[in-house]
Formats: sequence, structure tokens, C-alpha cells
Amino acid sequence: MSDNPKIQHLRERKAQTRQGGGPQRIETQHKKGKLTARERIDLLLDKGSFREIDAFVVHRTSDFGLEQQKTPSDSVITGWGTIDGRLTYVFSQDFTVLGGSLGEVHAEKICKIMDMAMKNGAPVIGLNDSGGARIQEGVVALGGYADIFLRNTMASGVVPQISAIMGPCAGGAVYSPALTDFIFMVRNSSYMFVTGPDVVKAVTHEEVSFEDLGGASVHGEKSGVCHVAAESEADTLFLIRKLLSYLPQNNMEDPPYIATADDPLRMDETLDSIIPDDPGKPYDVKELLKFIVDDGQLFEIHANYAENIFVGFARLGGHSVGIVANQPSVLAGVLDINASEKAARFVRFCDSFNVPIITFEDVPGFLPGTAQEHGGIIRSGAKLLYAYCEATVPKLTVITRKAYGGAYCVMNSKHIRSDLNLAWPSAEIAVMGPDGAVNIIFRKELGEAKDPQKRKAELVADYREKFANPYVAAERGFVDDIIEPRETRPRLINTLEMLTNKRDKNPAKKHGNIPL
Ligand code: HXC
Repeated sequence: MSDNPKIQHLRERKAQTRQGGGPQRIETQHKKGKLTARERIDLLLDKGSFREIDAFVVHRTSDFGLEQQKTPSDSVITGWGTIDGRLTYVFSQDFTVLGGSLGEVHAEKICKIMDMAMKNGAPVIGLNDSGGARIQEGVVALGGYADIFLRNTMASGVVPQISAIMGPCAGGAVYSPALTDFIFMVRNSSYMFVTGPDVVKAVTHEEVSFEDLGGASVHGEKSGVCHVAAESEADTLFLIRKLLSYLPQNNMEDPPYIATADDPLRMDETLDSIIPDDPGKPYDVKELLKFIVDDGQLFEIHANYAENIFVGFARLGGHSVGIVANQPSVLAGVLDINASEKAARFVRFCDSFNVPIITFEDVPGFLPGTAQEHGGIIRSGAKLLYAYCEATVPKLTVITRKAYGGAYCVMNSKHIRSDLNLAWPSAEIAVMGPDGAVNIIFRKELGEAKDPQKRKAELVADYREKFANPYVAAERGFVDDIIEPRETRPRLINTLEMLTNKRDKNPAKKHGNIPL
């Protein structure tokens, strides 16, 4: 106890700032199975590292009786701390105060944190739990959102921005998380939508629950808005910490190197027989990847969305890498609209933050059909192509099996500035698969053949031998080397180290015009 009355007063005021909306509202929050804003920060950051600012801030509104409801800190807790010892800025919306609603000072507090993160080059994590724009503050609240949107956009590609949705996130409020790099959602207790179930019912006469309209499953599986859906709040916060371990603090840094006991020269013989003899047979690319990356560890992004492509982070010889891999066990690994957009965004993220991109290719082509054509597969495929073409980070490709048609070009081919392209002996690199190719180029001959089926089988075998292998591409130098599958890990690690000082540039421009 200090006898200095001013210090005593300060202590009392500080204690007040920590009470949020009071014990009753905190209890209500807990009863919903949710943590408070401060409890979340404590779980997210290294123990004892949080330094709060703006705890004395109160709102300035007197309309609708709000002058009677001034709570120090208002409805958001802001500050910084560390995650694995690295500086991280955080804001955490406090639902116990006016439903976590965002008014003028709430927005100012978030903007202050974001400005500091930009100046000091560290990630910003937003923990969202809010009823949206503070209705009593009217347009001032809307202006506050727009101030944040601008900062989200300016910070994009400068510092990593991560959003966790831990309660409601509705109306225009969804656009701040949507502008950030990764959205995490908690299953069964968080939701995001532009208009809620009541408005949906009034406008479209559809009856839908909060969960079915904008819960973690919907956004993690159907819309793709959510990158990681976690089982609990604690899980969500743990996974955010894990994700950050793969990322640099800002776009001027390289990702952290994390030493591993996994031998960089390790060769796993299982890889030699992982590709089925029958080219029509699927295999799980995640299993394949686990034999290659450090300790078999993958941090998957969009695990349940567009599962025909895998994207995620891993380490190779301690170096953080982004992996893009066609998934033959889902839709034969074909590229469709959703897969193209999922991978394009991931490639652009990696390029923004100096994370080398490793592509594992086994793709029969783009998905045919009216649904895809009318849905704009041309535009979506172009996004992925654009993303790969503009990326200047180290880019490596391993062709494990099929590399057909336009998809061959798109999936980080040598022609679009890949640094090293390796192929396994099982690779098939051609304009299209043997069956389709024979049907087209031998249509006349097959029409006239005595036994078309037999003739077709002969022609398919002939085509496969001539084109469906990696040697034609290797003779041209489109593939740099053909390797035994077991050599993949040491070869990739060696190449990453060879590329440590890679410098590549795009022409000076204001910005490109990615086909959005
Ligand atoms: C002011 C709000 C508020 C808001 C909630 N509260 N949302 N106060 N502005 N937007 C207050 C409630 O009045 C209540 O205060 C307390 O927070 C807790 O809310 P409850 O309704 O009791 O909680 P719950 O039952 O859990 O319901 C949560 C909810 C609901 C579903 C989020 O509160 C709700 O529908 N709120 C309004 C959502 C909304 O339409 N917001 C505007 C979206 S448009 P008391 O004192 O009674 O406990 C938008 C535009 C942004 O945000 C545009 C940016 C460009």
C-alpha cells in the first residue's frame, strides 16, 4: 500500500478500468461459454506481457441516455504484448460493455493500435465480439468503421493482420476482418453476416438460423470467408499463436528460422511408392507432404473449403514455407473456381510476406462444365495465374503426377519464373490426358477402325509413352531435374538455401490490375 493519496487514487481508477461491464454481464458472457475480452488477451499473449493503453478512455456521447453509461476503456481493450517473445498488437472487443458496439472512441482506440503496428512493423490481431455500429452514435460510428477499413487496407502487405471472430460480427463490421489476411472463427459461438436472419426473412422470405446463415461451418466450408474454424476460444487463440510462428513481423523481414531435429537429408522411401500405378487412382497429398516437411507438421489454411487444393504453412530445414498442392483425393485435384481463388490468395499472402512457395502438382486440368464457365472460371483461373506470375519470393515446384493443359502453366511452371522445377518419374506433362488427346487427334482414324476399342488402347499407350512422362519437358529444360521421390526433402531444402539471397523485381507501377 502506498500512502501517497494520488497514487492511491490512480490505483483505484485503474482497478475500475478492469471491471468491464460489471460482474453480472461478465457472468452472462461466461454462461454463454465465452471468455471476456481480457481473458482472451491473457490466453493469446505470452504470460504477463500485455501492456494496455487507453484504459481511461470513455465515450463522448450523451444521446439516448448514454451519458449514464460511461465505462472506462469503453467497449474495446487495446495494447500490445508478445507472442513467443515477438511484439504483437492486439484489440479485443468487450461484449460486456454496450454489447461491444463500435462508436467513435472504440474506433479511435483500434486506429491508434493499427497506426502503432504500422510504424513499428508488427502484426495486429483483432478479437471481434460486437453488436456492430453503436446505434446511439449514428454516423460517427459508421465513420469509425471506415477509418478502420482504410487502415486495414493500408496495412495489407505491410504487417500481418489476423482476425478472430468470437461472437457476433454483423453488418458492415464484417468488412474489417474481411480485409485482413486470416479470419479464425469459433464453432457454435461466432457468426458473420452482412444482414441477419430477420432481414433475410423480410427480404427473401427465407428462414435461417444465425449458425446456418453465418456460423464457422458455413464460412469454413461454403463461403471460404473463414480460414480456420476452431473448436473453442482457447483453441482459436492457440492456433493464432501457431500461425504467427510461420510469419515475419512485417514485409521487410524474413520469416523466423526455427531449428529442427528433423534431418535435412532425411529420405523417406515410402515416397517412392506413394503414387499409385494406375494414374486414375487418388492418393492423399497431405500424407505425401508429411513425409517431406519438418516433423510432418502442416498448418493448413481453409482445411474444409475447396478441398481439391491444399494450402498451408510448414517448415523445411527450419525455413518457413507456404505449400500449395493439388489434392488428388478430392475431385481428382482439378482446379475449379473456389480452388483457384483459395490458392491465389494464399500465394499473394506468401509473396507479400517473403514466405517461399512450394507447389506440389498433380492436376488433370480445369473443371469443365457450364456451372464453372458461367461462374467465371476464366477470371478465377486468371487470378491464380496472376498471383504466381507476379510472385518474386523463391518459388519451387514438384510435379508428382499430372501436369496437364493450362493447369500446367498456372501451377508455377518454369515459364512464369519458377526457380526450380522438379519432377518425379511418375510425372505426366502434356496438353491433355492420353484419353482426351487420342479422341481428338485420332478421331477420324478411330471412326474408321475395325476394332476402335483395341486401336484406341494402342494409341493411348503410344501417347502415354511419348508424352505422358517428364522426359520431354526435361529435354526442353522446362523441368530442371527428374528425381527419385525420396530425394524431395533434401533437394527442396538445398534449393531454399541456394535461394536465400534471391532478389527479383516486377516493373515499377502504381499497382497491377489482378482480374478480381
Ligand atoms: C448499441 C448495442 C448494440 C449496438 C448490442 N447492444 N448491439 N448497443 N449498439 N449495435 C447492446 C444491447 O442493447 C444490450 O444492452 C447489450 O448490448 C447486449 O446485447 P443483447 O442484445 O442483450 O445481447 P444478445 O442477446 O447476446 O444479442 C447480441 C446481438 C444483438 C445479436 C448482437 O444485440 C443485436 O442484434 N444487436 C444489434 C446488431 C445490429 O443490428 N448492429 C448494427 C449492425 S449494422 P443492454 O444494456 O440492454 O444489456 C452495422 C453497420 C456497420 O454494424 C457499418 C460499417 C460500415
